[in-house]
Amino acid sequence: MSDQAATIGPVSTADTDFNEDRARHEALSAEITEHRRRYYAENAPTISDARFDELMRELIDVETRHPELKGADSPTEQVGTFSEAFTPVRHLEKMLSLQDVFNEEEVRLWAERVSEEAADAQYLCELKIDGLAIALVYEEGRLVRAATRGDGVIGEDVSANVATIAAVPQQLRIAEGLDMPELLEVRGEVYFPSADFEKLNESRVAAGEAPFANPRNAAAGSLRQKDAAKTAERPLDFIAHGLGALRGFRPHSQSHAYAALDAWGLPTSPYWRVVDTMEEVFDYIHEFGRQRHALVHEIDGVVVKLDDIASQRRLGATSRTPRWAVAYKFPPEEVNTKLLDIKVSIGRTGRATPYAVLEPVRVDGSEVEFATLHNADQVKAKGVKIGDTIVLRKAGDVIPEVVAPVVAARDGSERDFAMPESCPECDWTLAPASEGDVDLRCPNARSCPAQLRERLFYLAGRSCFDIDRMGYIACTALVQPLSPAEPVLKDESGVFDLHMDELLPVRVVVRDPDSGLPKIDKKTGEDKTATPFARKPDPKTGEVLPRKTAEAMLENLRGAKSQPLWRVINALSIRHVGPVAAQALAEHFGDMDRLIGADEAELADIDGVGPAIAASVKDWFAVDWRREIIERWRAAGVRMVDEAPSGTEAVAKTLAGATVVITGAIPDHTRESAAAAVKARGGKVTSSVSKKTSAVVAGDKPGSKHDRAVELGVRVVPGEEFEQMLAEGLGEGDESDPE
Ligand code: IVH
Repeated sequence: MSDQAATIGPVSTADTDFNEDRARHEALSAEITEHRRRYYAENAPTISDARFDELMRELIDVETRHPELKGADSPTEQVGTFSEAFTPVRHLEKMLSLQDVFNEEEVRLWAERVSEEAADAQYLCELKIDGLAIALVYEEGRLVRAATRGDGVIGEDVSANVATIAAVPQQLRIAEGLDMPELLEVRGEVYFPSADFEKLNESRVAAGEAPFANPRNAAAGSLRQKDAAKTAERPLDFIAHGLGALRGFRPHSQSHAYAALDAWGLPTSPYWRVVDTMEEVFDYIHEFGRQRHALVHEIDGVVVKLDDIASQRRLGATSRTPRWAVAYKFPPEEVNTKLLDIKVSIGRTGRATPYAVLEPVRVDGSEVEFATLHNADQVKAKGVKIGDTIVLRKAGDVIPEVVAPVVAARDGSERDFAMPESCPECDWTLAPASEGDVDLRCPNARSCPAQLRERLFYLAGRSCFDIDRMGYIACTALVQPLSPAEPVLKDESGVFDLHMDELLPVRVVVRDPDSGLPKIDKKTGEDKTATPFARKPDPKTGEVLPRKTAEAMLENLRGAKSQPLWRVINALSIRHVGPVAAQALAEHFGDMDRLIGADEAELADIDGVGPAIAASVKDWFAVDWRREIIERWRAAGVRMVDEAPSGTEAVAKTLAGATVVITGAIPDHTRESAAAAVKARGGKVTSSVSKKTSAVVAGDKPGSKHDRAVELGVRVVPGEEFEQMLAEGLGEGDESDPE
């Protein structure tokens, strides 16, 4: 304290104000920094965003009154220091890379070598984050520089960009029991959160910019922006995973170092684990191999490090990598392969879908030969040509995807794909279903073998009749026009009239039952769709579809006739009608004939249906051969009317003729049960409010439908009066305006 400051005398009001502001500035800075840490590093904010903004505004006010309080480390300064270009900087200590290994055997070999220098070593397992390495230099707790790895010796100064990453503290926290180190060089990974990646690419494509291939590139591209304000717009995050130069801090183990970094407010991974045995190392690898896509960031493997730092020192490093660590790389999810051809498959509603025929390649644990290309526009948008080397991505359960062509690998022999003019299976001319439709369809809906096969397979599936033994092979067999014989089924109307004599002689020719795509001979490229399926005729009977299979299939078909109405509706393969819409239709009409007779407006008004489905349903029933399906199924005994739920009869039709909209939470009801209660009383439930609406039942948090009702003068029934409305009806006011 200076002599002057110690002088005793009258204290002015201005001084008191300044002292108060200074104390408030310090408190606010610490509080905001801590909230940023909780928000970004721990994903566990303890205050609302609005409250955070209030604190920030107050800090700005204080700094406006006293600009001298605003140091370079103020939270208000964390965004907005811009650099013109990146300055090369020499790292205090070389930034090393990691030795990669690809199987357990190689991890064991590494561990054996290590054990010569460090017996009974403990291993620290952690995730290999797929991001961008940076080195942060803290002097006396203040961040003075951030640099990319560069060549390991010289990196780029990205301090201004890193200043925009909220997870990276500008000032380390005071930690109990730990001295603030004079010098602390922290290494870690800047990453782009996986959840934000798709959004980023969508907006880039919309703005005419090239999309990033993966979150790692997005992280690098976002960090290395000349204009740090652009970096600030990206949701970059950071995790520390190592140390460089140190003064005033001597951790004895990697885990000890992580605990200290954490205490100083530097984000560390929540997933690291110290283990004693190789078996535990492999458990860790398997555990995170399974969770690979459930993490906030991408990982491409697991890093195994010796925990003990004295052992790390003894082992040292080669010119490129430390000997005390190894990176176990997961199998890649992106590989290159050749695009041999682009073919077209026809779906159950006739849609023609181009798909890639690939040189078979192993990716993410399985062999891939085909990948869908969705439609001709997509083929164009991706810019792929037949004969290209392409990037193929397959991750977990996700279907294989052609990412992009490797343009540099072209030799001029590649050719553009042109959508065929006719159906590859029945030769009818493909056409869009309506003007402006990007998809081409085969108009031979009734008996195109492809469409019928796919419809039968769907009809036999879990969400329809659930017919065991009527798999892809059987469906294929039933529709195949094998010369000179006619196919057993020309459409699905006869499916419940099938009998043994018809089934036994069928021959089976299939596409690959797993992928649903044509089976192509790997060597010759020959399409095996045209060759008999490998199942040999039974040597005793000569039957191809074994009698037992046929018997079981017929038995299951008999049992399937009593499936509820929604499954029957779903089995019709009406465009846009899946299980959800089928259930809405069945619930509303309860009877196939009422559905057939419904007009488009009534259909469109049903909750979960809407105009597109309504039009599609009307189109479907307008076709004679389709109505014939219903009649033949009905004659065969397929259920066409849902039984009324027990007790329904006893309920008085208090709401007959009334149209009710339900909004908000109704006491003691779910949305479904409330709707069912209205319907059971003869009322109709719709989703939008119009002048014709008899009443809007407005529960808790009712939203815009309530406002619309008030606007149109439609009666509003409070949620608490719902039961009363059910019991007594709507009284005088329920006559809807005949308009
Ligand atoms: S330790 C001296 N730990 O992987 C040890 N690196 O392929 C050097 N990486 O350049 C790195 N996650 O950018 C380490 N948990 C982790 C990591 C990790 C990702 C990156 C790092 C390094 C690269 C090497």
